[in-house]
Amino acid sequence: MAAVRIAPSILAADFARLGAHVLEAEAAGADWVHVDVMDGHFVPNLTVGPLVVRALRPVTRLPLDVHLMIEQPERSIAEFARAGADYLTVQVETCPHLHRTVQLIQEQGVKAGVTLNPATSLETLREILPEVDLVLVMSVNPGFGGQAYIPASTARIRRLRALLDELGSTAELEVDGGVGPGNAREIVAAGATVLVAGSAVFGGSRTVAENLAALRAAIGR
Ligand code: DX5
Ligand code: ZN
Repeated sequence: MAAVRIAPSILAADFARLGAHVLEAEAAGADWVHVDVMDGHFVPNLTVGPLVVRALRPVTRLPLDVHLMIEQPERSIAEFARAGADYLTVQVETCPHLHRTVQLIQEQGVKAGVTLNPATSLETLREILPEVDLVLVMSVNPGFGGQAYIPASTARIRRLRALLDELGSTAELEVDGGVGPGNAREIVAAGATVLVAGSAVFGGSRTVAENLAALRAAIGR
């Protein structure tokens, strides 16, 4: 059985003590750190930029998985790379020249990911799949943490898994939005290799370690 990684999204963390919260997740066995970058244009929310990636870089040894929900992401790729991103994932809706954008990311020595909104056809990814290191299935409409998982996402994950297998691709299949102990097992069974979880890790009244343990128990590995 392939390993499944858990990538806590800092969107649900306490920004007044971000470094400490991320370290808490690392100590509790988180595998990656997911950073949601939003520009207030592509999505109706404004979050963080390269400055926060740079600040986190010396804090944690975990890979920094940066999800760009911004228009014209190609303008910011070099800066995020210099700041220390390990993965840079762009939304296909923001990239008329997706192939060039993926190349640009990889030229910076960063792993390239592509993602798409729940209503965007998986077909928009078919031609780029052989080139990418990661594909992310958005299981909510991007913009905010704490939303409910869109049930149709599971079928999309399954279809994407079949496409990747058909290509012999070893790209990571990541899922983002509304992931928690209640649905993690079905998401992994559908073929996901990386689970992003914001509220399910940093939210609620339980500790980060308890939350991560609940997620691990749900997927049984
Ligand atoms: C949504 C973001 C997600 C979000 C996930 O636009 O891309 O990464 O933080 O948060 P939860 O796990 O709370 O749905
Ligand atoms: Zn995200």
